[in-house]
Amino acid sequence: MSPIPKKILCIGAGYVGGPTMAVIAAQCPQYKVTVVDINAARIKAWQTDDLPIYEPGLSDVVKKARDRNLFFSTDIEGNIKEADIIFVSVNTPTKTFGEGAGKSADLQYWEKTARDILKTSESDKIIVEKSTLPVRTAAALERILHPNDKGIHFDIVSNPEFLAEGTAINDLLNPDRVLIGSRESARGKKARQEIVDIYTNWVPRDRIVTSNIWSSELSKLVANAFLAQRISSINSISALCEQTEANITEVSYAIGRDSRIGARFLNASVGFGGSCFKKDILNLVYIAESYGLYEVAEYWEQVVKMNEYQERRFVRSMLKALFNTVAGKKIALFGFAFKANTGDTRESPAIFITRRLFEEKANIVISDPQALDNARMDLDDIVDRISFEADPYKAAEGAHAIAILTEWSDYKSLDYQRLYNSMHKPAFLFDGRNIIDRDNLFKIGFNVYSIGNPPRTHFEEP
Ligand code: NAD
Ligand code: UGA
Repeated sequence: MSPIPKKILCIGAGYVGGPTMAVIAAQCPQYKVTVVDINAARIKAWQTDDLPIYEPGLSDVVKKARDRNLFFSTDIEGNIKEADIIFVSVNTPTKTFGEGAGKSADLQYWEKTARDILKTSESDKIIVEKSTLPVRTAAALERILHPNDKGIHFDIVSNPEFLAEGTAINDLLNPDRVLIGSRESARGKKARQEIVDIYTNWVPRDRIVTSNIWSSELSKLVANAFLAQRISSINSISALCEQTEANITEVSYAIGRDSRIGARFLNASVGFGGSCFKKDILNLVYIAESYGLYEVAEYWEQVVKMNEYQERRFVRSMLKALFNTVAGKKIALFGFAFKANTGDTRESPAIFITRRLFEEKANIVISDPQALDNARMDLDDIVDRISFEADPYKAAEGAHAIAILTEWSDYKSLDYQRLYNSMHKPAFLFDGRNIIDRDNLFKIGFNVYSIGNPPRTHFEEP
């Protein structure tokens, strides 16, 4: 292997592989960066201006490097052969079958990639775990790759990704930290240093944290578990606020001013979504259980249970407010993405909420600036019996209620008087993200139900 590796390959061109490699290529013109995937349609889209994922700032970064030192390809074998460093960022979803179903990580895509690497390689390589993986996956990977009859050595490095969707480019350009773990052997440390050297092209050295490989693997799961735990904690308190006339925004602010607690990630909501929080916590639960640490498992599982409770609670409060029936009533859902500034709908609370309202025979219209295509796929079994409308004003015409499910900033500045005028009366607004001015909407005439606040209604609560 050359002392300064020049060819970086990433296997998996998804929400992580695509943006991460685009940033590495844009920041490091001295490397040739190639991203491969088995999904040919995805690769084709990366080669056009119509990128396969929506992410603010992404297209500028891709345009800067594409066809200069950033390439997208379906030739997995050829690119494995050439590469000095291989990042693996394939999906690691929750297993849906067999042992560990519903909790443990499904590592079939990961293992397939490892076997492709072993089969095709002709020279030593550094393999970088970019996907989120159970702690001690590197040991399994070493067992697959070593020893081999080709005399090739693979060094394994863990470099989990902490980007959040919607802010991915900024997170990658200005990360709080980059974590790089390896074996503590001389070889392991040398491989780790090669990955450090990539990031020091734009990340200050004191933001690059190095550790042993197990700490790195485990830290990724723990970071997501801690973040999700904050949301479940504040959501649990939102239920209490609604009963006691405390205001969740004021409570979040008051506790967040304590520098030990910190102000961020304390927004009460309809629940957290996204492809990772639930999957990673359940994976942590499964790992704890597999070591016989049942109290640890139960502690973390409660974070997911609280999230499910919050989703159910939101629908229940809609039903109760709408006189215990939504059958035949038009309900406009504002937002389907799991958070603002993304078209991603994986594990979005909107999926559960839509399905529950559909069961109750509501006449549902879904509006979202970016996520309607994904929403149609998520609801493919009932897609013909639901309406989709990008324009929120049209979506709300004749509706009995609006429910804000995603915190798109557009929804803060809508003309709510106009919306109210076009709606069925009494008109209801359920703010699952606490983004609208309750007093103002109440004055317009809405009956307002915001997460973590007592209702503002024009009639006595039943
Ligand atoms: P994704 O599903 O968007 O992308 C994964 C890609 O891997 C897919 O395009 C798939 O076709 C490809 N793939 C699967 N098997 C392959 C194979 N054998 N050869 C080539 N390509 C293959 O997933 P993602 O959201 O990018 O997440 C990837 C990993 O990163 C997961 O482990 C996830 O937990 C982690 N992660 C995700 C995020 C996020 O914001 N989405 C953030 C941090 C970490
Ligand atoms: C999250 C983490 O923030 C990333 O660090 C991590 O890399 C990533 O998971 C991952 O491993 O996939 P992401 O899921 O993209 O990123 O988005 P977040 O901003 O964390 O939001 C997750 C969910 O929590 C969203 O549904 C969001 O609306 C919700 N949320 C977030 C709240 O309800 N309240 C908050 O205060 C913050």
